[in-house]
Amino acid sequence: MIITDDENRKYSAIVVDGIDKAPARSMLRAVGFTDEDFKHPQVGIASTWASLTPCNMHINGLADEVAKGVYFAGAKPVVFNTITISDGIANGYQGMKYSLVSREVIADSIETVAGCQGFDGLIAIGGCDKNMPASIIAMARLNRPSIFVYGGTIKPGKNHTDIVSVFEAVGAHARGDLTEEQVVQIEKEAIPGPGSCGGMYTANTMASAIEALGMSLPGSSAQEAVSPEKHKDCQRAGEAIKWLLKQDIKPSDIMTREAFENAVTMVIALGGSTNATLHLLAMADAVGVPLTLDDFTEIGKRVPVLADLRPSGKYMMSELIEIGGIAPLMKRLLEKGLLHGDCLTVSGRTLADNLKDVEDYPEGQDIIMPFDQPIKKDSHLRVLKGNLAPTGAVAKISGKEGTHFEGTARVYDSEELAMAAILDGTVVAGDVIVIRYEGPKGGPGMREMLSPTSAIMGRGLGNEVALITDGRFSGGSHGFVVGHISPEAMVGGPIALIEDGDRIIIDAVEDSITLDVPEGELARRKAAWAAPEPNVKRGVLAKYAKTVGSAAEGAITDRF
Ligand code: FES
Repeated sequence: MIITDDENRKYSAIVVDGIDKAPARSMLRAVGFTDEDFKHPQVGIASTWASLTPCNMHINGLADEVAKGVYFAGAKPVVFNTITISDGIANGYQGMKYSLVSREVIADSIETVAGCQGFDGLIAIGGCDKNMPASIIAMARLNRPSIFVYGGTIKPGKNHTDIVSVFEAVGAHARGDLTEEQVVQIEKEAIPGPGSCGGMYTANTMASAIEALGMSLPGSSAQEAVSPEKHKDCQRAGEAIKWLLKQDIKPSDIMTREAFENAVTMVIALGGSTNATLHLLAMADAVGVPLTLDDFTEIGKRVPVLADLRPSGKYMMSELIEIGGIAPLMKRLLEKGLLHGDCLTVSGRTLADNLKDVEDYPEGQDIIMPFDQPIKKDSHLRVLKGNLAPTGAVAKISGKEGTHFEGTARVYDSEELAMAAILDGTVVAGDVIVIRYEGPKGGPGMREMLSPTSAIMGRGLGNEVALITDGRFSGGSHGFVVGHISPEAMVGGPIALIEDGDRIIIDAVEDSITLDVPEGELARRKAAWAAPEPNVKRGVLAKYAKTVGSAAEGAITDRF
């Protein structure tokens, strides 16, 4: 019993066609399938809804809009949930160890549901740092027609505040510049409702990168969470997925090497988050495209930072949206020969076609700078190498904090120990704060160091100290900071061998990071080093620690 010969039902036909599939159909009838529904391709809609965080609190509403769009386009929508966590809540706390882990859990869960249920196509809606790359990783693994929908950015809080303002207020309080009442006031007014954190932090960085990659509809990454445009975008996804199904256009047709180069280019031009290196490497690996940290360096030589956006700049995403979003910037980059225009996108058109009718920014705006007056003439994301990071480290250097730092190591074996030292005044100008055993395996989970970097800023030490770690940074971190130091301490990387008082030299022009200790002494320390007992022995963190690879390769868990 073949229900229809619709060629777009490649996977669902296996699940629901034939007399022997009556039990499956029976189950599906109970959740609302009609005779007519079985004739259409099934599109899974992965919602990352949760009432635990503003970034995802509205996603179910968007999932309903997507479902309507899919239905009216002539396919059968099936909505399912996956988990999410909030970095904004978990930062500065042991819970943050689950953050990067959640990227894998979310990717695994979307792959599991879509793979099991036989969806012909997939739409995922994400709104927080990890659920976005996770959605793309799942799409790449499944390689069925797919679209990513961004949940949208948050509106600014009162007095132009956002979540990073609250983190920095904590540091300012420690310095004595804000009272407890003032901190609480900022806390109450900084987050006005649904949406992803409002600067060019990781969520907005990844949304822009995914649009440049071709996996979300044109214009969709620069929309506010609470806006009619976001709802229209959700409905448009329905028609688009039907078209992708008809043409059998799969993620591997869109996510090519050139498309990843476009994504890297956008991240740099926007002054985006260091986390993009981890996520783009992992996304590329999932679809079998070779991409390395060195590609960030190569592309970074020709692409300037043009956007004056937080955390190192002035403006928020909502202000960029007011002047036209990222599309005019993409068009400028395309015209300059910095983007590959012939890459296919989920709109069914090429990137160049998508941008054909886009108007330039209005005169007089100063959010996106012209090429002859860049914020920085080459990439702010620097891949540093040297005897301290033989396989690479990632720094975000906007230039405001300088490009060279030499200082004295002050070593901490966890974020908490470092945080206490920053807040109690132990850390002083000229120090290089070393936070180790916080890598993917060591943490485990490669926590973000937003609390320490915010505390450094809050204490007014922004240009006076550097922070290096085998952990990573929030997209909201700024200052002279170097993360992703690889190999990490837990596997015996040189970061494990640093001692208090050692001289450390970081140079973001030479792209080098050096531990100024004689080789013989380092060999002696290495011989005396032994890996500490793992922090966690059971559960998801232990499984993660066992399977995760190097941050220099995207911290992936499924390459054996
Ligand atoms: Fe979700 Fe910032 S915590 S986007």
